[in-house]
Amino acid sequence: MITTSDLTKTYDKTVVVDNVSVSLPDAGVTSVIGANGAGKSTLLSMISRILDADAGSVAVDGLDVFNAPSREIAKRLSILRQETHMTARITVREVVEFGRYPHSRGRLTEECVQKVDEAIAYCDLGEFEQRGIHELSGGQRQRAFIAMVLAQDTRYVLLDEPLNNLDMPHATGVMKLLRRLADDHGKSIVLVLHDINYASVYSDRIVAMKDGVITADGAPESVMNADTLERIYDMRFSVIDLDGDKIAAYFR
Ligand SMILES: Nc1ncnc2c1ncn2[C@@H]1O[C@H](COP(=O)(O)OP(=O)(O)OP(=O)(O)O)[C@@H](O)[C@H]1O
Ligand SMILES: [Mg+2]
Repeated sequence: MITTSDLTKTYDKTVVVDNVSVSLPDAGVTSVIGANGAGKSTLLSMISRILDADAGSVAVDGLDVFNAPSREIAKRLSILRQETHMTARITVREVVEFGRYPHSRGRLTEECVQKVDEAIAYCDLGEFEQRGIHELSGGQRQRAFIAMVLAQDTRYVLLDEPLNNLDMPHATGVMKLLRRLADDHGKSIVLVLHDINYASVYSDRIVAMKDGVITADGAPESVMNADTLERIYDMRFSVIDLDGDKIAAYFR
């Protein structure tokens, strides 16, 4: 389990994550939703120790994230950041191999090669694996970074807007893949999504943030209703039931 206790981040006296105490489960798919600036990336960045907290703590399987050795955390938790800048001229396969670094420290084992192959296949990157990362389209590059995180093969997989730049078939493919990782491999997937319908259809739980605090938290059925969504986003929604899933429309 990942547990945050009173986690807080402040920039220039503005509190952007405000005393957040939340537990994320050992397995399943948890989607984090909320408007731009709500604090989603800041929360995930503190959980994964990319960012220091101003107050509070994070424990991953009981390990204090801010004090445990980085490698111990990296074996348990991986993160796909919202913005991934990689300017080096390296191939897709080399990017995915980076994901093995906490395990291999640069010397790939047979298991590493297998995990890299699997991740490349899962993300439909076979035809690009020897291509430079700078020679891909935005969506292909995004898939390479998702493959890197998958190759790390951690129990907790945090993804900040993994569907960025993806076309509908690949976005759906990624959501199905994440669902499978949770169901068949027992992983805990925590992802930030702006497409609330993907959150509704593929998650076990939706956590909504607004102004640095969690304002709704529960099964998709409990969050995906017009009133709750209006409170989260300050706009009107219509929610319909489609084959047992709640689907929101919000174009007007
Ligand atoms: N380095 C920084 N310095 C000052 N303010 C920052 C910094 N990083 C983030 N913020 C502010 O903190 C708030 C939360 O940002 P965060 O990136 O967590 O939002 P988000 O929910 O991920 O939004 P988005 O959906 O746009 O990615 C925003 O108001 C943002 O402007
Ligand atoms: Mg963000």
